[in-house]
Amino acid sequence: MLPHAPAAERNKDAILDAIRPHLAARARVLEIGSGTGQHAVHVTKALPHIVWQCSDLADAVPGIAARLEAEGNPRTPPPLALDVAAPPWPVPEAVSPEAFDAIFTANTLHIMSFTHVEHFFARVGEVLAPGGICCVYGPMKYGGDFTTQSNADFDAQLRTRNPESGIRDFETLDDLAYEQEMTLAADTAMPANNRLLVWQRGTG
Ligand SMILES: C[S@@+](CC[C@H](N)C(=O)[O-])C[C@H]1O[C@@H](n2cnc3c(N)ncnc32)[C@H](O)[C@@H]1O
Repeated sequence: MLPHAPAAERNKDAILDAIRPHLAARARVLEIGSGTGQHAVHVTKALPHIVWQCSDLADAVPGIAARLEAEGNPRTPPPLALDVAAPPWPVPEAVSPEAFDAIFTANTLHIMSFTHVEHFFARVGEVLAPGGICCVYGPMKYGGDFTTQSNADFDAQLRTRNPESGIRDFETLDDLAYEQEMTLAADTAMPANNRLLVWQRGTG
């Protein structure tokens, strides 16, 4: 049976609608923490100009590979085993560094430790082409505050499971992005109290 995330099924259309305009002039996406591969399949079916490279921790790779074999297309190459905290990221040999013009990740930065979040942004700075975008989907805090009580409850649940997990502050992520020469291009409200943040890297 293929790995399946009900949340990914529920949010995949809203994510596609929100990232579509940002991907209009982009060709090659690296996804971090692909989970089940559902977003890769959904986006590449709708956007035939996009090549979408999935990745995740090694344990998740066989499940993603099975989904891509069953449902994917030539624009979803085999998934990479990639831990954000293990530099350098193993981008395919045929692909030079800075070859991705978009990075996408959904529901990962509140699962990882903050050290891993710092790695995420530092490594994005190594593989993202000038002018490329970094898209982060998930719940966020603003000015240190949760946007809803349900997000505060979710954060408490996450920390019970792993004290290093937790909903991140938008401002902290924005600072980490800025260190990699990325500035905010969009902050879009999404269903179920999530956000889609998009940063664009400078072209200089
Ligand atoms: C809640 S799941 C989200 C999966 C998928 N992106 C989605 O939206 O359905 C969190 C994902 O983050 C991945 N992850 C956690 N720590 C990671 C790390 N250090 N490097 C890369 N991926 C990681 C997990 O393996 C898992 O697939």
